Amino acid sequence: DWNPGNVIADQVAAIQAQVGEGKVICGLSGGVDSAVAAALVHKAVGDQLVCIFVDHGLLRQDERRQVEEDYVKSTGVRLVTIDAREQFLTALEGVSDPEQKRKIIGREFIRTFEQAQAALIAEAEADGDPIKYLVQGTLYPDVVESGGGTGTANIKSHHNVGGLPEDLQFELVEPLRTLFKDEVRAIGRELGLPEEIVSRQPFPGPGLGIRIVGEVTFERLELLRSADAIVRAELSEAGLDGEIWQCPVVLLADVRSVGVQGDGRTYGHPIVLRPVSSEDAMTADWTRVPFEVLARISNRITNEVAGVNRVVLDVTSKPPGTIEWE
Ligand code: XMP
Repeated sequence: DWNPGNVIADQVAAIQAQVGEGKVICGLSGGVDSAVAAALVHKAVGDQLVCIFVDHGLLRQDERRQVEEDYVKSTGVRLVTIDAREQFLTALEGVSDPEQKRKIIGREFIRTFEQAQAALIAEAEADGDPIKYLVQGTLYPDVVESGGGTGTANIKSHHNVGGLPEDLQFELVEPLRTLFKDEVRAIGRELGLPEEIVSRQPFPGPGLGIRIVGEVTFERLELLRSADAIVRAELSEAGLDGEIWQCPVVLLADVRSVGVQGDGRTYGHPIVLRPVSSEDAMTADWTRVPFEVLARISNRITNEVAGVNRVVLDVTSKPPGTIEWE
């Protein structure tokens, strides 16, 4: 019988056997997989582990704080945050094409991660003990999808901007390789991780950068963050977190429509709600969110988020639609 306590005990022993006295590095994304993987490694080898978190400015409201404060408090991991918000915004200036955005975000992410890592390695080598191990939150379905390989070469590149440079000379530590997502969540809870992280919806590596149709700017990101926070709060409040796989909130920055608010005419942007139900994101159906919940979300967004005068609902399944709009 499967029990999170046993898996934790087994994994802690396996990690200790694999890394011994070695130094370990881990990139945190804010998502549940890397958070649980790092917590397991920390439980096994303590301060031999250093975590890196890149703030690319494309995160949702409160995510950085949850990692820096709540996660660090509950685990005790040593965390280095790289504030790369300016760098990413500058690199994204004038870019509207989705694949171009992904490429730029991926490139900047790797650049930032490598710099942070180089600094840590230099520091570690100065004390005579280079970093040899890299933690990856690879799950069982990722292993199957990538052909089941092991070792240093099998770095998860599928879709994830977390995808690291292929030429890194690290031995991988992958404590979640035999687990499914719901098992990872159970282990995260057993380890006492913050619930906002453990129950977090899947969120793409390029973050809000691919949820703004049009150019990414700081003002648009702020607007989208506010709308997204309202949607998440209302869906949770309505008890829909179990039914909804994820709900992208998309800003159509290149579209404007006429509205009327207060005393006058407005010419604002639409926000799209994309709640989907799914098992694995390969296929999905649009979630039948109750009308009164949609009404509350729509009222709140149009009242509270300046620049938005229309809220629309995406009622397309996947296929033919994808989950994200870009
Ligand atoms: P689509 O839009 O292809 O999304 O139906 C399927 C799942 O993948 C996520 N997604 C991404 N994840 N980098 C990621 O790490 C990406 O570029 C990316 N694009 C989509 C999406 O959120 C959904 O869970």
